[in-house]
Amino acid sequence: IIETNGLLYMTLDSNPGGIRIAEKLGLHKHEELPRFFNKFVYSEALWSRLAYRMRDMTVDDIPRVLQIWAELELQEGSLSVKSFLSAKAGQYVVAVDNRTDQILGVCALTKVMENTYIIGLYGVDRRYQGLGIGSHIFSTIMTHIGPDDSAVLFSEHHLQDMYRERLGFSHDSGIQLIAYECRPVRTRNLQNLVDSIAGIRIKRIGDSLMDSVVEYDRKVHRQSRAQVLNRMFSDPECRALVAIDESGDQVAGYGVIHMCSDGNGRVGPLYADSESVAELLLRELIDNFPEMVVKGLIYEPLANNTGAMSIADKLGLKVEVKLPVLFTKQIDMDFQWDKVYCSHSPNFSII
Ligand SMILES: CC(C)(COP(=O)(O)OP(=O)(O)OC[C@H]1O[C@@H](n2cnc3c(N)ncnc32)[C@H](O)[C@@H]1OP(=O)(O)O)[C@@H](O)C(=O)NCCC(=O)NCCS
Repeated sequence: IIETNGLLYMTLDSNPGGIRIAEKLGLHKHEELPRFFNKFVYSEALWSRLAYRMRDMTVDDIPRVLQIWAELELQEGSLSVKSFLSAKAGQYVVAVDNRTDQILGVCALTKVMENTYIIGLYGVDRRYQGLGIGSHIFSTIMTHIGPDDSAVLFSEHHLQDMYRERLGFSHDSGIQLIAYECRPVRTRNLQNLVDSIAGIRIKRIGDSLMDSVVEYDRKVHRQSRAQVLNRMFSDPECRALVAIDESGDQVAGYGVIHMCSDGNGRVGPLYADSESVAELLLRELIDNFPEMVVKGLIYEPLANNTGAMSIADKLGLKVEVKLPVLFTKQIDMDFQWDKVYCSHSPNFSII
């Protein structure tokens, strides 16, 4: 930062020498932070020389965006970002340094259903936090929310008060995302999951089954996500299985596992007609694609599906954190909740 943008110099008012040094350097007082004690922030150039612009995110930006995201110790996979971005399912914005063209921050807005948009992937490169870039990207994204629309997000704990009190996300849906501790799956625990169900066949999702799975997803989600799903299933990174009920040759569930930027494999969507079908799909995903879970499994169901939690217990997973779903306006969520075992991605989708 010093080399490219300037010097950020903070001193305490209890040390006149600290202030004199700032004056000798010709720094001007930028801000006074009186919250705990008087702390002066002197800045020469950091604010004035850091010029950035907002632009739409492109597919080429995905590696850098995921690098920022991984450095923030948050998890997302290029498969999700690519599928939603290339299907033009919303507005995806990055803040870019004018001089270096480097991406400094990102935020995503995806249409979930009529008048409802989810905000996700909200992050700023650690080195550039606290300079107003985050608020700027967020307010840029919010300009796409009309007066009749509701915006929704999965809130990190430390930001809940800000979202609720300062940014208008005052409606708590009562729904929570449960993030389980991410760890490799033990073979012993995997054996606790069902390994077969009479009349249910597990198959890879190829071209011939894509339409049936998209239709199954539409019934669960109540909205067609054909564009996003077709892109996702056609992507070489996608590892996806479908459960077929042989009695009527019907889809009884489907599951996807993909690699996140931190090297962990994330399950989602995992939708199924019953807990046993969800269990079987998960077991088969792990058995068929073991390379996805060498480091760890990201398993994040919604708390209103008790079956999903009992699967976590069978796998020996421990709850790490619960994230509430906050809205700017109350909306009707008419999803088939009982079929949702893991959501698609909390950055792009409610379920
Ligand atoms: C949240 C985050 C994107 C904010 O980016 P930023 O560039 O540092 O934000 P700003 O400089 O605009 O704002 C800094 C201050 O405003 C708050 N703020 C953050 N986003 C804001 C917004 N959209 N509007 C108003 N205030 C905001 C911050 O909490 C901070 O307040 P504080 O000084 O009282 O601590 C950044 O801290 C980050 O990447 N955090 C880790 C990832 C994360 O938690 N993402 C949110 C997932 S729900």
